[in-house]
Amino acid sequence: MKTFYITTAIDYVNGSPHLGHAYEKVLTDVIARFRRLMGDEVYFLTGVDEHGQKVQQSAKKRGIEPQAFCDEVSQEFRAMCVKLNISNNDFIRTTEPRHKNVVARLLQQLFDKGEIYKAEYQGFYSTRQEQFLQDKDRNPDGSWPEIFGEVTQITESNYFFKLKAYQDWLVQYLKDNDGFVFPRYRQKQVLEFLAEPLNDLCISRPRERLEWGIPLPFDVNYVTYVWFDALVNYYSAVEDKPGIWPADFHVIGKDILVPPHAVYWPIMLKACGLPIPKTLLAHGWWSINGSKMSKSTGNFVDPMGFADQYGVDALRFFMIREMSVGQDSDFSLNQFLVRYNSELANNLGNLVNRTLNMVNRFAGGAVPAAVAADAELETELKTLWVKTRDEFLTLCEGFQFHVALERAFGFVTATNRYVEQRAPWKLGKSAETADQALLATALATMAEALRLAVTLLPAVMPETTEKVYGVIGYTPAGAWRERLDWAAPLTGAKVAETAILFPRPQAPEAAKG
Ligand code: ME8
Ligand code: MG
Repeated sequence: MKTFYITTAIDYVNGSPHLGHAYEKVLTDVIARFRRLMGDEVYFLTGVDEHGQKVQQSAKKRGIEPQAFCDEVSQEFRAMCVKLNISNNDFIRTTEPRHKNVVARLLQQLFDKGEIYKAEYQGFYSTRQEQFLQDKDRNPDGSWPEIFGEVTQITESNYFFKLKAYQDWLVQYLKDNDGFVFPRYRQKQVLEFLAEPLNDLCISRPRERLEWGIPLPFDVNYVTYVWFDALVNYYSAVEDKPGIWPADFHVIGKDILVPPHAVYWPIMLKACGLPIPKTLLAHGWWSINGSKMSKSTGNFVDPMGFADQYGVDALRFFMIREMSVGQDSDFSLNQFLVRYNSELANNLGNLVNRTLNMVNRFAGGAVPAAVAADAELETELKTLWVKTRDEFLTLCEGFQFHVALERAFGFVTATNRYVEQRAPWKLGKSAETADQALLATALATMAEALRLAVTLLPAVMPETTEKVYGVIGYTPAGAWRERLDWAAPLTGAKVAETAILFPRPQAPEAAKG
C-alpha cells in the first residue's frame, strides 16, 4: 500500500505565524488524522520557506544575519505546530542542505537537457523596493507611486525555464484528471488561466540584487528565485524515502494555486520526469472582524496566544466548524464565543457532566448494563446514530468537515434531549423494578452515546477525545471504524467524579469584536 503523503504550504518566515498559517496546519492535520483513523499509512510534511528578498530585508532591519533570523523565526512556526497538536512527521526548512542539494541537482538536470536558458529581460525597476515593476503597479495617471522611489528602466540577464513548451501537455493533463484540483470549480480557473499563452518562467535573480537564495549550480552569479526553490520542498523532503512520492495532497491557500501549484509545479515535475501529485486542495482565506488580516493595523489574531486563552481544541474546533473548505470565512471573537458556549460547553460539556453525575449518583460510579428492552426513545437514538456516523464519514471523505461536525454535535444534542425525556433523576427516586431497569438502560445509553459521539472527534479535537475517554473509563481498542458501532464496551467502567472540559465559558455579550 502506498503511503498517503500530505503537505501544507511552507510559510514565509518574514513574520510570525498568524491565523491563516494555523488554519492550514489544522486543516491538513484533520485530513492526516482522519486518514490514519481510516487505516492509511500517512506521511505529513510541513515547514518553512526561508529564502528571498523579504527575509533578507527583515534580517537587515534587525541587524542580524539572514540565517540567524531564519533560525529564530522558524522556531516560532515549529512551536506553533507543537502547540496546536499538529501530527506532522517532518518539518522542512528550505535552508537545510537536504533541500538545497535536491534543488541544485534538479536545476542542473534541466539545464543539461536544455530546459533552462539565459535571456535578457527589460523592465522598470524600483531601487528603493528592489523589485521590477509592472504596468499594473502604476498610478491611474501612469506615474509610479511614491513608495517605489526612483524608477528606472533597466536590462538584466536572467535564466528562464521553458514553461510554454508544456502548455498543451498540462491542458490535456487537467482534462484527463478532473479531480486534480479541489474544490472542482477551481480547476476551471486553472484552465481559464491556460487559455492564454504562457510565458517562460524567470527562475533567477542576479546575486548582486538578491543574495539570500540557493545559487544556480551552473552560474554562481545567480540565485534561484522563489518557486523553483519553494515548491521543490515537497519532493526534497521525501526523495530518499521509498514509497512516498508523489504527494497525494498539497493543501494550500487559494492565492498560491494559480499559477504556482497548478501550473509551475506539474510542469517542473514533468520536465524532471517525476510523477505528478494527485490532488491540490485550495482553501479559502480568513478575514478578522470583516477585514483583511494585517499586523500594521492590529487586525491580527496570534494563534498561540488564542490557544493559551481558550484552549487548543476549542480553536481547532472553531476553525474547522466555521469554515467550509474552499470558501472564505470571518473570524470574530463573538462568533467564537457563541460556538464555544452553545456547542462545546453547553452541549458536549453538559452531556459529559450529566453522564458522570448520574452514573455516580444512581449507579455507584460504574456504568450499568442496559436491562430494559429498547423502547422507542432508545431505538430512535440508535437509528440516529447510524445515520450520523455514516453521514459523518462520507462528509469527511469529501472534506465537508464543517457539516460533519454539525452532524456530530446534532447527535450530542439529540442525546441530551434523550436524557431529558428519560429523566434518570426521576427514575432514581422510584423503587419500582421497571423504573430501575429503565434507569440502568438510560445510564448505559447515555454513556454509550457519549462514547460514540466523541469517537467521531479525534481528528478535530484529539485532546478532548482523550479526556472524555479518561473520565468515562474507556480504553479504546481495535480499529476505529469498529469502535463506531453501537455496543456496550463501557459496562462496568468506572467514571470520574467530575470533569472540566471547557472552562471559562463567557457570555458572548461580554466579548468585544
Ligand atoms: O505563500 N487565511 O507563504 P505565506 C488563510 N511561502 N490562509 C492564509 C491566510 C489567511 N488570511 N494568509 C496566508 C507562501 N494563508 C509561500 C508558499 S509553498 C511551496 C510556498 C496561507 O506565509 C497561504 O494561502 O504567505 C499559504 O497557503 C500559507 O498560508 C503560507 O502563506
Ligand atoms: Mg502569502
